[in-house]
Amino acid sequence: MIIGGSASQDLAAKIAEELDDELCYVETKKFPDGERYLRIDGKISDEVTVIQSISFPQDENLIELLFLIGNLKDLGAKKIKVIAPYMGYARQEKRFNPGEVISANIVANLIQSAGADEFLTVNIHEKCVLDFFNISARNISAMPAIAKYIHNNIDEKPVIVAPDKGAYDFAQEIAQILDCEFFYLSKVRLGPDNVETRIVDVCSEETVNINAVKDKRAIIIDDIIATGGTIVNAINILKQNGAKTIDVFCVHPILVNNATNRIYSAGAKNLISTDSISSDTSKVSLAKIISDALR
Ligand code: R5P
Repeated sequence: MIIGGSASQDLAAKIAEELDDELCYVETKKFPDGERYLRIDGKISDEVTVIQSISFPQDENLIELLFLIGNLKDLGAKKIKVIAPYMGYARQEKRFNPGEVISANIVANLIQSAGADEFLTVNIHEKCVLDFFNISARNISAMPAIAKYIHNNIDEKPVIVAPDKGAYDFAQEIAQILDCEFFYLSKVRLGPDNVETRIVDVCSEETVNINAVKDKRAIIIDDIIATGGTIVNAINILKQNGAKTIDVFCVHPILVNNATNRIYSAGAKNLISTDSISSDTSKVSLAKIISDALR
């Protein structure tokens, strides 16, 4: 039995179809004072999978997820698997400054104390967040699904580019599947007020020559696009180095502050994401890889 929360309705329906499982109807509404109402319709099976991204509005979607888990437990579900394709609050996994809340820890505790037996997410921002769970907690990669989309939709051999070193693993995973070159962009501090972004070769760790992307189809890959600042910077570097076409892919399209517009205006040909968060950019579905992880 599959239940989709408000943030992941379409994806839940696709996963139910993929697994040939029953999709359960959930009634949700807000009372006039803003409090949340939720009713699960139908007979509850022993094992239930709840799909709900903790995306904008994060607090509302988190509360709804907790209500779903707690209610299912109360109604007799024996095993509850929670899938949060996008796990919000995973970027605050430690105290960067004294006194800050470690949000990821609290969210993990809330999910398991509500009654979750298993947790699964996709390209979590910091893998150490999984250690906050005492239940089975797994992270799967969307890169095979993105690589498949590129293979099926882009004819020429691309060059895969990580916009910073943090995205290195994503670029490497896609490049290995597609058997093509990959680079990462590195910020180099040349002086107090002088930061330069360079294209770096993954083997030698040396700045590569200008021909690395010249006249090539460059594909930028990142886990999250929020304001789009990282991607716009990367597009500018690739354009300066003569890239012919630039496509942008990400897993989680947060896309705030006019990010889509900024990315296209900077020169991207396509901006494509998964459906971890429902968006106009969500052309790569996670339904298959999540279903495979559940089988
Ligand atoms: C950073 O660690 C992430 O991988 C993304 O690069 C970052 O969250 C993107 O943020 P923005 O779109 O605001 O530059």
